[in-house]
This record gives sequence, structure tokens and C-alpha cells, in this order.
Amino acid sequence: MIHPIVKFGDPVLEKPTEAITAFDDDLRKLVEDMFESMYAAHGVGLAAPQIGISKRVAVVDVTFKDDPRAKLVLVNPEIIKKDGRQRGTEGCLSIPDFREDVSRAKTVTIRAQDLAGKSFEHTGEDLLARAFLHETDHLNGKLYISHISALKRDLIKRKIKKLTKAGEW
Ligand code: NI
Repeated sequence: MIHPIVKFGDPVLEKPTEAITAFDDDLRKLVEDMFESMYAAHGVGLAAPQIGISKRVAVVDVTFKDDPRAKLVLVNPEIIKKDGRQRGTEGCLSIPDFREDVSRAKTVTIRAQDLAGKSFEHTGEDLLARAFLHETDHLNGKLYISHISALKRDLIKRKIKKLTKAGEW
């Protein structure tokens, strides 16, 4: 089932999520819905709060359906290692039509559980490293605009306020 993407302004996006404790059919269904919703919105990563569910789970596919092996389910993820630096443009499905340069680690190792509850580690570079950091931030109630200058952030917030008033957000 495709869920609408929650947009900036909804408090669920800025609240830390609850850990997943049950590896059951409900979790499998949630993850399936998250992939569907992410692809429908043309995204390469999605965290549960973005469909209004404050649970510690995210999905990533930086190849956007190109390579089935790139489909990653991250249950209760934690960043365990960061190396190097990359600068690049970043956006978020919850902040549509805005993009900003964000400096991130170039290589990132994540520890997470799979749908069966089994713990694993995965190291990603470049876009995948960025996705790991961006999605884990979401699960901690943090958005990418917290990594840009206060000036740029306030500008985006002001524009969103205007759009909200106009009923266009
Ligand atoms: Ni995002």
C-alpha cells in the first residue's frame, strides 16, 4: 500500500523513533509499504516517520530498482563508523522541491537488524553513505536541513511557511 509522504512541519518528523522489538508480519508489511511508497515518490531512501510511523526502521535502494541486491532494510540502525568527507547536493521527500549542499562522511558503516532480527553490518560509500546518514538522522528526529547554515535553513522554513499559508504545502 502506498502511503502519502509526511512533509516538514509535521512533528512526527522531528521526534526520535521507538525501537522495533517484534519481527513479525506487521513489520514485514510495514517494510513492503515503505518500499512501495518510496518508489512511488521517486526516492532512494525512506524512514518510517515519513509515512507517519514513529518506529526505528528505514529502507534504502540507491539504484532505484536497478539492482535488487541494493534493496536494504534497516531495522534499528546505528552508525558505527564514519570516514572521509564528501560534499554533494541532498534533498528529502519530506521537504520536496528544495535541495542543498550537505557535507557528509564519504564512507559509513551501519549496524542494523534484518526482517528476521538478525544483526548485520554494511559499509557504504558516496551516495549509499549519504543515505545511511540521512535515514538514520530521520530515525533520530533530525532532518538534513539541520546540517546547513542557519541562514539557509531559515530561508527554507520561511518559504515553506508561505507555501503552507497558500495551501501549497
Ligand atoms: Ni529524507
